[in-house]
Amino acid sequence: MQKPYVIDEMISAKSIAARLEELCREIHDEFQGTDKLVVVGLLRGSFVFIADLVRELDLPIEVDFLEASSYGDGMESSREVRILKDLRGAIEGRDVLVVEDIVDTGHTLHHVTGLLKSREPARLKTIALLDKPSRREVDMKADWTGFEIPDEFVVGYGIDFAQRNRNLPYIGKVRFT
Ligand code: PRP
Repeated sequence: MQKPYVIDEMISAKSIAARLEELCREIHDEFQGTDKLVVVGLLRGSFVFIADLVRELDLPIEVDFLEASSYGDGMESSREVRILKDLRGAIEGRDVLVVEDIVDTGHTLHHVTGLLKSREPARLKTIALLDKPSRREVDMKADWTGFEIPDEFVVGYGIDFAQRNRNLPYIGKVRFT
C-alpha cells in the first residue's frame, strides 16, 4: 500500500518555461547551421520536457526516443541500466542532443551516453531539466542543466512517483503525511 502523500510545488510551470527559453538560445548557438540534429528523448521521464524543448527550437531536427530504466517502480536506483527500447534511427555522423528529465546518481545518463558514443555521432550533447548533484555516484554532468535541486523526491513535468504524477505541469516535492 502506498503511504499517503501530498505534493508541494517546487518549480512552477512559468519558471520552467522561462528557463527553457534561455536553454534553447544556448542550444541554438551550439547547433546553428547543422541540418543533421537528432533530438533523443529518454523515456519515459523526458516526454514532457522534450515536447516543450523541440517546440522552442528553431532548427531542422529529427526526434527519436530511447527507453532506459534503472528504477522500476521503486525509489532507489538499481544502478543497473537496462535499455528497454533502442533508437529507431542510426546516429553515426549525426549531431545528437540527449534529453533527460533528471540526473540523480548519474548511472542512466552515463550508460546511455557511453552507448551512443560507441555509435560514432559527429557531436553528442546532453541536457537535463533537473540535476541532484548531492546524489551523484558516477562522474556525469549534462552539458545544459535547467535547475540544480537538493535531495528531495520530486514529481511532475514527466517525472513519476510509482508511475503517478507525470502529468503535473510543474515540478513538485513529495511530502509524506
Ligand atoms: C529516472 C529518470 C532518469 C533516471 C535518473 O528514470 O527519468 O532517467 O531515473 O536517475 P539516475 O541518474 O540515478 O540514473 P527511471 O529509470 O525511473 O525511468 P522513467 O524515465 O521511465 O521514469
